[in-house]
Amino acid sequence: MENTNAKTVNYSRTTITELMIPSYANFGGKIHGGILLSLMDKVAYVCAAKHSGTYVVTVSVDNVEFKQPVEVGELVSLHASVNYVGNSSLIVGIKVVAENIKTASVKHTNTSYFTMVAKDENGKLTSVPPLILESDDDIRRFLEALKRKEIKNSYKELLHNAKTLMEIDENLHLLEAERCIVKREKDMQSDWI
Ligand SMILES: CC(C)(COP(=O)(O)OP(=O)(O)OC[C@H]1O[C@@H](n2cnc3c(N)ncnc32)[C@H](O)[C@@H]1OP(=O)(O)O)[C@@H](O)C(=O)NCCC(=O)NCCS
Repeated sequence: MENTNAKTVNYSRTTITELMIPSYANFGGKIHGGILLSLMDKVAYVCAAKHSGTYVVTVSVDNVEFKQPVEVGELVSLHASVNYVGNSSLIVGIKVVAENIKTASVKHTNTSYFTMVAKDENGKLTSVPPLILESDDDIRRFLEALKRKEIKNSYKELLHNAKTLMEIDENLHLLEAERCIVKREKDMQSDWI
């Protein structure tokens, strides 16, 4: 592989730390998920732009699941590194941890993966430098990203089929165990006949 512009994972590794202030909180006093998503998008941008040396945009976000609430007054740190590079795309893994300064407790709230693509000055896709994998962790993350891409492609196809091939009448029995009430106009009319 042409290696002249290749960059290490460490080159673009980025951490952003932000204090959670009251205006970030919902009525229950917990931090809005959207605030954390916005910070994740920001750190993903910095990390991906450092690696690519270009403008980048977010294409998709995987594995967003907030395992524990974040409170006002906590320090949230977002640790980002490039896990994978394709041609114009790159995947940034982001680990989010929240720290309570008074109790010194640290909780891992989520780990998510942002796919970004590099664009040139005309807004066209452009290729990103290869990634130099210097440690077993770098190699493991790249391999895991490959696996996730494969799973995501199969999942996308399954989702597409579930949406386009869904026969309502054939699948109506699946709703019997669910907490919903089917009150279709056409069923009600057939009752009247
Ligand atoms: C991302 C975008 C350029 C893809 O366009 P496209 O015509 O599908 O282009 P391609 O199929 O050539 O894909 C380009 C790269 O993106 C990757 N990609 C496209 N869709 C993807 C998805 N849903 N998830 C992960 N990667 C994706 C492709 O694998 C490809 O990677 P590679 O170059 O490393 O092989 C286009 O959808 C876009 O511009 N989206 C808007 C992005 C944006 O503006 N985000 C800001 C938030 S509004």
